[in-house]
Amino acid sequence: MTAINIFRCMFLLLVIAFVGRSTAERVNSSGGMVWSTARDEAGLAEDSGVVIGEQDQIDGGFSSLDGMLHWAIGNSDPATLKEAAQDSQKMSLDELQKRQLELKELVEKLKMPSDAKLMQIAVSDLNNSSLSLEDRHRALQELLILVEPIDNANDLSKSGGLKVVAGELSHSDSDTRKLAAWVLGTASQNNPFVQEQVLGTGALTTLIKMVNSSSTEEAVKALFAVSALIRNNVAGQDMFYAAHGYIMLQDVMRNESLDIKLRRKAVFLVGDLAECQVQNTEKSELPIFSDRVFLKSVVDLIAVLDLDLQEKALEAIKTLLQLKSVEPSVLRDFCGLEEALERMKLQLEESMADENKRDYAEDVESLRGEVELIFHGKLGRVISKKATPSALI
Ligand SMILES: *[C@@H]1O[C@H](CO)[C@@H](O)[C@H](O)[C@H]1NC(C)=O
Ligand SMILES: *[C@@H]1O[C@H](CO)[C@@H](O)[C@H](O)[C@H]1NC(C)=O
Ligand SMILES: *[C@@H]1O[C@H](CO)[C@@H](O)[C@H](O)[C@H]1NC(C)=O
Ligand SMILES: *[C@@H]1O[C@H](CO)[C@@H](O)[C@H](O)[C@H]1NC(C)=O
Ligand SMILES: *[C@@H]1O[C@H](CO)[C@@H](O)[C@H](O)[C@H]1NC(C)=O
Repeated sequence: MTAINIFRCMFLLLVIAFVGRSTAERVNSSGGMVWSTARDEAGLAEDSGVVIGEQDQIDGGFSSLDGMLHWAIGNSDPATLKEAAQDSQKMSLDELQKRQLELKELVEKLKMPSDAKLMQIAVSDLNNSSLSLEDRHRALQELLILVEPIDNANDLSKSGGLKVVAGELSHSDSDTRKLAAWVLGTASQNNPFVQEQVLGTGALTTLIKMVNSSSTEEAVKALFAVSALIRNNVAGQDMFYAAHGYIMLQDVMRNESLDIKLRRKAVFLVGDLAECQVQNTEKSELPIFSDRVFLKSVVDLIAVLDLDLQEKALEAIKTLLQLKSVEPSVLRDFCGLEEALERMKLQLEESMADENKRDYAEDVESLRGEVELIFHGKLGRVISKKATPSALI
């Protein structure tokens, strides 16, 4: 990891040096100044403590990359850098332009190591069992940033790097597990290729168990990764079901002592799964949607005094109401949706009296009204469907 940091530092220094020079040039591009010679500059450089090896410096330039790097390191002190920028103002326009070209070429040659290289370093660090915890965390944090672009996530997956990260889910250190889940979730987001690869490692089962962690942060990241892995992924959703992921969701939604963030994420995932079902009508509906205990754990959330959670629960119920497996009579009789919606209406009216909550409460109330209408509509259709055959007899 130190290698990466050194590369980053050098690159930054070069950019600073480069910008410093082009600023000086811009100010003076009209020319007409008394410029100093390269010799003067060398003298000034010595005075200000800038280290430039004699053989490295040709006409105030640098003959080698090494020299350039030494110069950049020597200029790491901001005061020195500023002085160096002022020195450059004494150069002729030609010299400045030449310098600038040299610097451009150097920056091109030096370039940051490619993301692929950085990911490779991080992964081989992780793959080393004698790596310190601190370095392990740092490697995972690097990967967290590196896997954001979809191409990088794909590369990391192809090179087997994500397998190494998935292995970290079983680490004894909670922070390592948390970071590994975060990396896997970030890499899998909206990426069917990576989703498939990560699902192939068996990480989903481990992640589902991790949501039970006593560390809220670890649980939150694990649930994030679970969602990212199965979102719009039918195969992933089937695995999720087979691994009893719905029981985990149910436990989280019902457990009042859990962090509210976790419960919000859980009900959001329920809505997401239902939405995916609505979009894929040819896929047979997951059995969880006809599980009355599961449905009740969603409905019960609208009684929890947290507008965000209530809103997400209402959104989920609204989508669930579009599914064939969701019996409106079960929602009414077993889940008590009718009374829950009525109680919520009163509670929202109270919230609307509070100036700070009014706008949000009004939005949630409008959603609540919508859910009530859809629910009654669906109940009515069921009743009339049942009534028709008997009327015909
Ligand atoms: C840049 O050059 C102009 C003359 O064109 C001069 O007046 C000015 O002082 C110079 N700027 C700096 C920052 O030295
Ligand atoms: C991790 O290390 C093992 C040996 O301990 C090696 O076989 C494997 O290829 C390494 N994996 C990666 C991705 O570097
Ligand atoms: C693993 O890490 C240790 C300590 O950082 C280091 O000495 C060793 O060379 C590394 N092993 C490999 C195979 O990179
Ligand atoms: C989570 O913990 C609860 C209680 O400790 C347990 O009943 C449940 O089986 C656990 N769930 C998972 C998925 O490990
Ligand atoms: C609810 O969560 C708390 C805190 O994580 C846990 O200790 C407890 O076992 C959970 N209760 C149930 C019924 O799973």
